[in-house]
Amino acid sequence: MIDLFRAQTAAERTSFVQGFLAWVHERDGMPDAQTLTLSKREPRFLEQEANPIRWNGPAPVDPEAYNRDLERYVPQEATSPLGLWALITGKINRAERFGVEFGFWFNGHKHVSDQDPRTYQEFQELYHTRILADALSTLGLSLVHKAPSSVMRLLIRAMTLLPSPIANIIIMDAEIAGATIFKLLLEKARELMADQPEVLNRIEDLLGQILVDEVGHVHLMRSTLGPLQLRIAKGLLPQIAKSMVKDNPEISMLFTFDQVIARMVAADVDGLMADVRGELLPTIAEAAAERDAA
Ligand SMILES: [Fe+2]
Ligand SMILES: [Fe+2]
Repeated sequence: MIDLFRAQTAAERTSFVQGFLAWVHERDGMPDAQTLTLSKREPRFLEQEANPIRWNGPAPVDPEAYNRDLERYVPQEATSPLGLWALITGKINRAERFGVEFGFWFNGHKHVSDQDPRTYQEFQELYHTRILADALSTLGLSLVHKAPSSVMRLLIRAMTLLPSPIANIIIMDAEIAGATIFKLLLEKARELMADQPEVLNRIEDLLGQILVDEVGHVHLMRSTLGPLQLRIAKGLLPQIAKSMVKDNPEISMLFTFDQVIARMVAADVDGLMADVRGELLPTIAEAAAERDAA
């Protein structure tokens, strides 16, 4: 397993960023600052949206109970395993999405560039909202756009205003925790949707797309951090993991709190990709192959 908190040499960092850009150009295309879309990703995504997949049989989660629970901190009605799965899916992207929107509001779109890796990180987060909406639609549910909790909003605003050498430490940890939750959701979907092969197939596609992006984001943040910042990131990870999980009580209702935290803190993000659909960023894949050969 790659030690994410090992500092990279300047050459490794530069070559990662070049590899990242080459890969997103190939996979996602060019960013459009007007429509906030990526030229190669958008047509693929529209095709997917035009071919919706729906749960076979009666609705597995009552949409009204689900919508009421989306407004609550602790859910009270849609508390079946699938209901909790859907609540996590409906809430999990709120913080990242809010961060991206606040960043656009604060900084404008001037920085949007095909040579800026952060542009891709931000645009991919916008796709994640649409991907999660598509995932929920398989259950007959819709995604409700809402800001995250007030504590999260404060933290996210602070991160936008903080200088990036500090903010990126926290963002790296949040990306590790986020990627872990998406993997947990995928594993749970395999259990809960085993008798709905078409739905599960779509969920594998959708969460695979997100995981590939999120693992890239973790590595991208790592490439911006030096040895001291990485030490701080490692030290802060348990705290950030706990606050993210506590902010979404349905996570501890569907999974075991301690196990979720342990998995996040293990920070084996490349290992998360083991049985996931989607191509991994080549530089990450090569490093993983070297590790396996060793
Ligand atoms: Fe995301
Ligand atoms: Fe991310």
